[in-house]
Amino acid sequence: VQQTLTVCVTGAAGQIAYSFIPLLLSGQVFGQVKINLRLLDIPKMETALKGVVMEIEDCAYPLIGDIQTGSNPKELFKNCDLIVFLGGFPRLPGMERKDLLQKNANIFKEQGEALQEVGKDDVKCVVVANPANTNCLILSRYATKIPRQNFTCLTRLDQNRAYAQVALALNKPLNSLKNIIIWGNHSTTQYPSIEHATADGQSFVLPDQGQFIERIQKRGAEVLNARGNSSVFSAANAVKDHIKDWFNGREDTLLSLGVLSNGEYGVQSGLCFSYPIRCLGAFKYEIVGNLELSDFSKQKLKVTEEELIQEQGLAESI
Ligand code: NAI
Repeated sequence: VQQTLTVCVTGAAGQIAYSFIPLLLSGQVFGQVKINLRLLDIPKMETALKGVVMEIEDCAYPLIGDIQTGSNPKELFKNCDLIVFLGGFPRLPGMERKDLLQKNANIFKEQGEALQEVGKDDVKCVVVANPANTNCLILSRYATKIPRQNFTCLTRLDQNRAYAQVALALNKPLNSLKNIIIWGNHSTTQYPSIEHATADGQSFVLPDQGQFIERIQKRGAEVLNARGNSSVFSAANAVKDHIKDWFNGREDTLLSLGVLSNGEYGVQSGLCFSYPIRCLGAFKYEIVGNLELSDFSKQKLKVTEEELIQEQGLAESI
């Protein structure tokens, strides 16, 4: 073990955290790197967090450093190299989308202010809690000292889902596929695209592209309906993939993560938009900004961009 990283997980008493923490501490995200862990949740989850810590101890992970728990982001964000934002306000029955957006915008405003006050200047952020893109945008607005490239949101679950469905449709192994891209919002307006994808190095068409797009857009609801609960270990697995590839770099394929737009593909600058991304290693990446888009794709990008603009407006009205 050569290196130590300090990682904070918010929503640490929740479901995704329960699947993600074991991946992190068993070396599946950073390899043989020692992890100092910070677990943040709301005050009423304090006892539950203690239980999580007991289970971590009982795993006797060789990679664990020190552990701190609490409900104050200003204490727990100090000295962190990476923060994984899983904590958010859940959508309760009868709650409107607007209410959900504003509740979460308030949480991310507070956490952004905490980051600005106590965060390391080069801390990396991954926002998973929904609405992930807009939460990420709000976080970045309040933590202006941190470089904008350090803010990302999770669309890797959508990308993994898209790879799996294409592999099934073409009856090809997953590792024969490259460059399937998720564009835009992590929502039902996202555009899962095969326009630049290849299977065994060749471009391909799907038997029913419309059905594929809709399936990926609505996959979260499909899992929810079948399981009676939202996606959990597949989400934790995607968080692992997102961080691992962002940290290590990935030469062989384009990845999808939500990042702050600089206007690439005509998308409004400042929105947190899922793009084709080349991960270069050491948490560096570039947005691949020069792909040819069909009119069909351009129109799909517009739809998801418009939704993000609307979300931004609602979140800003807090
Ligand atoms: P969960 O409800 O089990 O856990 C959320 C945790 O966050 C709870 O323990 C709650 O007490 C905590 N929390 C609430 N407010 C907080 C605050 N202000 N600070 C710190 N913690 C706070 O939810 P689950 O299943 O773990 O999902 C977490 C989030 O991830 C949800 O918002 C969900 O919608 C989202 N999600 C995103 C996906 C993506 O692909 N981007 C995929 C699946 C889920």
